[in-house]
Amino acid sequence: MSGTTYDDYTASYAARAQGMTASEIRALFSVASRPEVVSLAGGMPYVSALSLDAVGDLLGDLVASRGAAALQYASAQGDAGLREHICEVMRLEGIAASPDDVVVTVGSQQGLDLVSRIFLDPGDVVVAEGPSYVGALAAFAAAEARIVHVPMDDDGLVPAALAETLERLAAAAGQQAKLLYTVPAFHNPAGVTLAAGRRAEIMDIAARHGVIVVEDNPYGLLGFEQSPPAALRGEHPGVIYLGTFSKTFAPGLRVGWVLAPPAVRDKLVLLNEAAVLCPPTLSQLAVAAYLETQPWQEQIKVFRELYRDRRDAMLDTLDDLMPAGTAWTRPTGGFYVWLRLAPGLDAKAMLPRAIAERVAYVPGTAFYADGTGAGALRLSYCYPPPDRIREGVRRLAAVVEAELDLLRTFGAAAAPHGDRDARLRADSPGPELA
Ligand SMILES: Cc1ncc(COP(=O)(O)O)c(C=O)c1O
Repeated sequence: MSGTTYDDYTASYAARAQGMTASEIRALFSVASRPEVVSLAGGMPYVSALSLDAVGDLLGDLVASRGAAALQYASAQGDAGLREHICEVMRLEGIAASPDDVVVTVGSQQGLDLVSRIFLDPGDVVVAEGPSYVGALAAFAAAEARIVHVPMDDDGLVPAALAETLERLAAAAGQQAKLLYTVPAFHNPAGVTLAAGRRAEIMDIAARHGVIVVEDNPYGLLGFEQSPPAALRGEHPGVIYLGTFSKTFAPGLRVGWVLAPPAVRDKLVLLNEAAVLCPPTLSQLAVAAYLETQPWQEQIKVFRELYRDRRDAMLDTLDDLMPAGTAWTRPTGGFYVWLRLAPGLDAKAMLPRAIAERVAYVPGTAFYADGTGAGALRLSYCYPPPDRIREGVRRLAAVVEAELDLLRTFGAAAAPHGDRDARLRADSPGPELA
């Protein structure tokens, strides 16, 4: 961003734009992108593991053979052939769906935006895991929703806490929750998976309260140990399901989808038309050609093995070096570890010191709409190679150790708590936080 900070348009902004500000974290990330800094912050898939020559040939062939269609406008619902392939992909996670009920979007991020705009009036309540994906919080905030977090443990969303929260909301006039937003498999940022035994209970609680479940599932096929966890949508056709090719193929193509019951699907198509006319045709046909001609399931296996090695590098080094009092999750898939600092430490206050020591992470506050989360942070292992991950964790462990020393010497005042400023909730995610 450049130019003066004076803003001539202040009086004209819509209410939903008034609160949008870039976080201080973002400014720090411009420093964190320097090569000497090991970034454990970003959620960028390791696309270099793709066969880039094969993808290049595929794109060239696509334009040569179907250029007139690939470079043209098309349907707002998305390419029919691609929607059939999407149903094959979803079958791997136990979902039997019709291509008619799929709407292609510009990444699942646009799916979040469309779903928010269909269901949420200003002030409506969304119940979301605490912590939650920062881009989902941004989409709900842009719809001027109120976000209420429900805690998770190592087995994902806690059913008793969900029931208690929904009951409390139902008892307060006008506060009945509308949506439950959940990432059941290999959670971003928590790195946990909803236990099989909790799934039916969560769905029962949501049904009892008339809450629509929005299942966001970018990482389900990226498990390290088991076959993919069954999606909630598999047994519950009322669930609104978001999928994407960003983590299993390439985020730069920006192809995701929403699977929704027919009435909702019709509204999604109309809104998609208003938002983008049609999802990008070239990208859609490229994904369809990739699924038709390339060994995509083998490629997912390559990604899983690569990310498993990186997960191991991170967990082994955390086990070896992190000071006592620190705790973290042990992901069985996906990209992220959620780390809790010892009581009294503050991840946001610590970030400038970490960056000075050449390691970056995302403070936990980014993943809460209510200003909490200062005692935790997210580490991602998807992008740096294992030796850089080990080096990054080594640097981080030294920073945490130094903070603990300060705390022991001077007490909690030496490690002040981060601001309780809820501005982050209105912040757009930015690629660094994806
Ligand atoms: C939980 C979750 N949902 C949605 C997205 C957005 O993905 P995309 O828009 O690239 O499909 C991400 C990206 O990191 C994510 O982690």
